[in-house]
Amino acid sequence: MIKEHKLGIIMNGVTGRMGTNQHLIRSICAIRDQGGVQVSPDEVITVDPILTGRNENKLRALAERTGVKHFTTKLDEALADPANQIFFDASSTLHRSRFVEMAAKAGKAVYCEKPTAVTTDEALRLARLCEEAGVKNGAVQDKLWLPGIRKLKTLIKQGFFGEILSVRGEFGYWVFTGHDEDQPAQRPSWNYRKEDGGGIMIDMLCHWRYLVDDVFGPIKSISCHAATHISERVDENGKSFPCTADDACYATMQLENGVICQFNSSWTVRVRRDDLFVMQVDGSKGSAMVNLRGCRTQGLGVTPKPVWNPDMEQAINFYEGWSEMPDATTYDNAFKIQWELFLRHVALDEPFPYDLRSGARGVELAELGLQSSEQRKWVDV
Ligand SMILES: NC(=O)c1ccc[n+]([C@@H]2O[C@H](COP(=O)([O-])OP(=O)(O)OC[C@H]3O[C@@H](n4cnc5c(N)ncnc54)[C@H](O)[C@@H]3O)[C@@H](O)[C@H]2O)c1
Repeated sequence: MIKEHKLGIIMNGVTGRMGTNQHLIRSICAIRDQGGVQVSPDEVITVDPILTGRNENKLRALAERTGVKHFTTKLDEALADPANQIFFDASSTLHRSRFVEMAAKAGKAVYCEKPTAVTTDEALRLARLCEEAGVKNGAVQDKLWLPGIRKLKTLIKQGFFGEILSVRGEFGYWVFTGHDEDQPAQRPSWNYRKEDGGGIMIDMLCHWRYLVDDVFGPIKSISCHAATHISERVDENGKSFPCTADDACYATMQLENGVICQFNSSWTVRVRRDDLFVMQVDGSKGSAMVNLRGCRTQGLGVTPKPVWNPDMEQAINFYEGWSEMPDATTYDNAFKIQWELFLRHVALDEPFPYDLRSGARGVELAELGLQSSEQRKWVDV
């Protein structure tokens, strides 16, 4: 006999970009198709999703496309069903709190996309609400399970860097404005309106908070500049609108251990680097260049000694002298890995540190970044 933990999962707002691709298709459907999360030879956690949202036609189309049996526009009814033990939300940020309130009240375990809110007060309120209702809770922190980051963590554990001195992260790509024919925007327009929860600072500093805290150490202070480089974009209905939210954010962070981390995040840059996110880590004994899947290293022994001379062709090819770390395993989708941890947390009571309270720390960094930008000064965390 195999012991089965069958978890009904309400998936709310998953007809959007993140919900459909990363959470439904790459995570929950993938877990369903692999037969669940095998805990031991005799124990398995299986998933039974129900899609919820406002538009029945969109829900039906997505359910048909993904082979999901249940969908409804009546969230109340889905919450009233005791078979549904988890409520997940990937709706746009400003709708989140209402849904989290409903789910906590119904006694469901709550898991949601980041940012959990756009102010620290609200993010903490949601964390407390779940804690007081005694429901398990979590926020998405997917970057921690990117193969490149996992390779980096291995290097840190093995002492490759000696003392880590500084970290430079570069995230971004060109998001089309929608003004030019045949070049429609590839992100939802609410991202560029503050009043709708948009802005790259609230979007990306949440990620940088858990990434830096987890990989390099606690953040002491932040200095940040936010910019709105493009002032007008075109929305999903072909209508121009003024951009009220930042589309680039230039952040410098000082960690308690003295490491300096700089992260540029931008929707207004073109990519000439290995991937949409790259991060260089420099240490006394070696450096690494991380991207989404890979990690290249250069140790002290093979570090070149360049000379500044613009009158001559550069004699050194700086792209050589770096070694690509081999894959240590087959890397599963980062969102799926975190989902499996959350399912184990709910079914088996295993620890899950990525709760709404830790999600609120991401919102806090974004808020402090905004404060730093507005006041043009360093702000302590
Ligand atoms: N973890 C990550 O890397 C990552 C990346 C991008 C976005 N996100 C987050 O995911 C969330 C969704 O972003 P997206 O890019 O998928 O946006 P999107 O606009 O594509 O999707 C938003 C979804 O919310 C739904 N929605 C909006 N209002 C609703 C309402 N009143 N009731 C029910 N559903 C409603 C929409 O129908 C849609 O399904 C945001 O909070 C965003 O910050 C996370």
